[in-house]
Amino acid sequence: MSQHPETKAIRIQTAQTGEKEHSTPLFLTSSFTYESAEEMAAAFADDTLDVNIYSRFSNPTVDEFIAKIAALEGAEDGIATGTGMAAVFGTFMTFLSKGDHIISASAVFGSTHTILTKYLPKWGIDYSYFNMNQPEDIEQLIRPNTKMLYVETPSNPGLDIIDLQYVADLCKKSNILFVVDNCFATPAVQQPISFGADLVLHSATKFIDGQGRVLGGVVVGRKELIQPLYLFIRNTGPSLSPFNAWILTKSLETLFIRMEKHADNSLKLAKALQNHPKLTSVKYPFLESHPQYEIAKKQMSNGGGILTFEIKGGIEGGRKFLNGLKLLSVTNNLGDSRTIAAHPASTTHSKLSAEERAAVGITPGLIRISTGLEHIEDILEDIEKALGEV
Ligand SMILES: Cc1ncc(COP(=O)(O)O)c(C=O)c1O
Repeated sequence: MSQHPETKAIRIQTAQTGEKEHSTPLFLTSSFTYESAEEMAAAFADDTLDVNIYSRFSNPTVDEFIAKIAALEGAEDGIATGTGMAAVFGTFMTFLSKGDHIISASAVFGSTHTILTKYLPKWGIDYSYFNMNQPEDIEQLIRPNTKMLYVETPSNPGLDIIDLQYVADLCKKSNILFVVDNCFATPAVQQPISFGADLVLHSATKFIDGQGRVLGGVVVGRKELIQPLYLFIRNTGPSLSPFNAWILTKSLETLFIRMEKHADNSLKLAKALQNHPKLTSVKYPFLESHPQYEIAKKQMSNGGGILTFEIKGGIEGGRKFLNGLKLLSVTNNLGDSRTIAAHPASTTHSKLSAEERAAVGITPGLIRISTGLEHIEDILEDIEKALGEV
């Protein structure tokens, strides 16, 4: 009988060492040794050999983390990186060359937007944006040199959602690589490969860590796609540290149970706030008022741990709200056991022009809540008190 994902997240583990440890060991070593000069030469001669050489290339603790994410996402293989941005950048650099074209949703994380609009054009790679709310526009953006289509769903921070099956079918028809940033949902909630995505990547810094401790990234997909990506990471060096991999692989043991609680608290919070007099709107994938509610229900097992609301009073209202919080953390990370409030217009997306922010739905009073695992009544009380001061 094949194991359930919840079991794989816990039971996939590095082979036990002679010490008979129960919890997974941490291989905090830069390099590995050989029995002979011939064995060492053989390890270097063949890039595809499954042998540990140096932790920039491979490490058992990092491999365990990759194996778990690949299993949970339904992928054949994967590669881990030092940050989520290294996963995004490594993917672009491996599969895009001078003269190529990438189509991306305009609603993407701020640094991804910077790579697409500031760096790729510098190297002769062209991009086109489409609005997540108008996926029917994608087809007319496809050119003969289009190599990749990139989305985040749900998007950060706008929580826009796109029909993965629809986009995957379009990409297959035109032989375009379909890449999904699955950071907001995690594989506990959504598996884009099952809808036809080619590569799935993550900022493991978020819900995968789950306690705001370490940075990390990962990309998973078919073996033939991971091999060139592995060579890019191996040779250019944005590898995941074994220590961070150990934190992340231990965190995966609780991913499913955490995501259920994050989502349960988020839905309760979204429902409690949806008619609040100080707010003009509340957005959460599993609220019926979400514009893509039906799609969310189809491809996600719950609504995830992030919700947003729009405070009346714009930028000043947003500031007053943050200043009124006593329990919630005011920080830009997300996916933590502690509830976090952030104000994207003045932080993560501050590098965008006002027009660019408006185009991706970041209004001056938009607050993003990453719902933690505290008691829902305590979270709600703090938010309601702070709203009272706006
Ligand atoms: C959706 C998404 N993708 C990528 C990243 C980048 O990840 P990292 O901060 O680990 O580089 C983030 C970070 O917030 C994110 O939210």
